[in-house]
Amino acid sequence: MQAPIYLALDFPTGEEALHFLRQHELAEVPVKVGMELFYREGPSIIHRLKENNHPIFLDLKLHDIPNTVKSAMRNLAGLDVDVLNVHALGGAKMIESAKEGLLLGAKNKIPKLIAVTMLTSMDEETVERDLKQPMELVAYALHLAELSSTAGADGVVCSPHEAASIKAACGPDFLTVTPGIRLAGTAKNDQHRIATPASARKMQADYLVVGRSVTAAADPKQAYKQVIEEWNDYDNYN
Ligand code: C5P
Repeated sequence: MQAPIYLALDFPTGEEALHFLRQHELAEVPVKVGMELFYREGPSIIHRLKENNHPIFLDLKLHDIPNTVKSAMRNLAGLDVDVLNVHALGGAKMIESAKEGLLLGAKNKIPKLIAVTMLTSMDEETVERDLKQPMELVAYALHLAELSSTAGADGVVCSPHEAASIKAACGPDFLTVTPGIRLAGTAKNDQHRIATPASARKMQADYLVVGRSVTAAADPKQAYKQVIEEWNDYDNYN
């Protein structure tokens, strides 16, 4: 089986993203398409990536009234991607509606529905000051994961450091999708709670999202291979 390591295509245009994949011979690797690329290119970038056999995580983080999210998910599921997501902060009814829309629109396989609990850019102070949310941040993220699980999501985006407690609360099959992955010796950039591919796997991450560790590497092809090597042979890496 292909390693579940989604390469974040954080590029301004489809041409740049496709050129990067070609140039570094990253044929058929799983990719994550976010708002930047999708709002520029629309469904055509998904069609082109699918033609090249890339599994796709379409990371648009929907958050609206349940009926709107249901209709939007029906349309997105028709793109036949592998993973779609919503904000857990939209509440249980919205997550349930997202799942309904996804089941209505799915063509072949049913895409996985992942919920974002708290954005990693939100720290304790921001949550308390801006959102007036009194609960401790990690406990609140865990609450949102349990809510998402009960409402029918297949998993959550979380820090690798939270993956084990989420599995303990939501069950072993509930997926943990973890960004904030860094190879030893590469820059942290704006990520705070980082982990290596091996340590993320040991901490029970199911899927990794990897961006700049590969896209900003001197040799992206080699860097992606290294991520896979560390994921597969996790016992022999820190
Ligand atoms: O470059 P880097 O590996 O930090 O990229 C991580 C990717 O994961 C980016 O596309 C970022 O938007 C995304 N992401 C994240 N934290 C979340 C959700 C998504 O870093 N909580």
